[in-house]
Amino acid sequence: MSRPLSSEEADHDARRGRQWLAGEAHGAGVARDDLLELGSAMAALTAAAAEREPVAVAPAPVGVDPGSPIAKPLPPELLRPLETNAEMRWPAMAGQGYVVPNDRFFVRNHTVTPRLDADAWRLRLFGTGLRDAPTRDAPVEFTLDELRRLPAEESTALLECAGNGRRFFADQQDAPAPGVAWDLGGVGVARWRGVRLGTVLRLAGLTDDAVDVMPEGLDPDYVTGGVNLGRVRRPLPIAKALDDVLLAYEMNGEPLPADHGFPVRVVVPGWIGISSIKWVGPVEVSATPLFSPWNTQFYRMFGPGHPADGDALGTQSVKSAFELAWDAHLPAGTEVRLHGRSWSGAGPIDRVEVDTGDGWRPAELVAADRGGPWQRWTAAWRPPARGRWTLRARATDVTGAGQPDRAAPNDLGYLFDGVVRHPVTVV
Ligand code: MTE
Repeated sequence: MSRPLSSEEADHDARRGRQWLAGEAHGAGVARDDLLELGSAMAALTAAAAEREPVAVAPAPVGVDPGSPIAKPLPPELLRPLETNAEMRWPAMAGQGYVVPNDRFFVRNHTVTPRLDADAWRLRLFGTGLRDAPTRDAPVEFTLDELRRLPAEESTALLECAGNGRRFFADQQDAPAPGVAWDLGGVGVARWRGVRLGTVLRLAGLTDDAVDVMPEGLDPDYVTGGVNLGRVRRPLPIAKALDDVLLAYEMNGEPLPADHGFPVRVVVPGWIGISSIKWVGPVEVSATPLFSPWNTQFYRMFGPGHPADGDALGTQSVKSAFELAWDAHLPAGTEVRLHGRSWSGAGPIDRVEVDTGDGWRPAELVAADRGGPWQRWTAAWRPPARGRWTLRARATDVTGAGQPDRAAPNDLGYLFDGVVRHPVTVV
């Protein structure tokens, strides 16, 4: 089988989608109609796999609620809890630098943050795309120390949940979508340090036949609607895996925090957040295409304008956010400087405009950010009179993609790109 040439998320997703629909899925497990039957079989499989992969569990850190799905503290001024997740509050970025500090970086957990013991942890690679480890029960293993001894690289990359902004489908467009009701805080940029996945794959005996790589998380199985979908996992094409994907063990100069994947996570620059598997353990390297519910059942576009079996998700949409509280109070008649950030999955931001009530005008872009994964900007505003005002910001990326007044709705509420109407009160 020849290798796919592209490492583009949309291409890969579309190709795998066609193969899945044509019944070419590896392990018949993920046809949407089969999910119910599949549940119990997968549960048995994953339980058996878990037994073969004992990972010691460390006690919860002192001072943190052991019942919480998230390990780090959740100060209300930094993070807003949302079910098993927590989103960053945008005012918490005011006065910060380019990256989001670890204490306020958003957390997206399908279940709970597992407490893994780094000494017991192993990265376990297996599959038909490796020379000597075709099966899961005889993997090629790496300890954390072994990974740390390999050449290290740093990458400043943006992570964003595909559902970021979902709340605005309901609040601004009267088209609520199920799922976590993120504001705009399901996004962050961090400086990740680790070893290239490509380096590890080659050391593990990668063959020319490999087409897909699927990292799996060591967090508990994800059960939804009574169906056990097994471990969180999503395939990557080999071209992307060999390109800029990192196995990260540091975040912003610190060991990876528990909530962000300790001891090691995958970081897939430019792809939607679900690709960046946290707490990575097993990694399947396959000579045939791989599928999981995370590229067939979820993270596809269903609904108006999409076929019954959905469309590939594609790259993240363009978004803009003010570093300002919702309904912030601002003084009348005094010039204030508004700060914000814009980003896009398709490429760097080219320009940003703001509207404070009298039409669109250009924002000033922070020159040092040009070409990076997100763009800081500012705009001056002298609120003319007391009362309720609406602030708006919209960006255009280098591909020409921008932000419409109204985002195209889809059943699962992904890729919101509409202009958000941010209320403030002038006093
Ligand atoms: N990896 C595992 N093992 N389990 C998860 O629940 N969530 C994914 C991804 N990796 C997830 C995971 C999703 S949907 C996102 S958006 C990112 O992790 C979020 O990373 P963060 O929690 O470090 O911000």
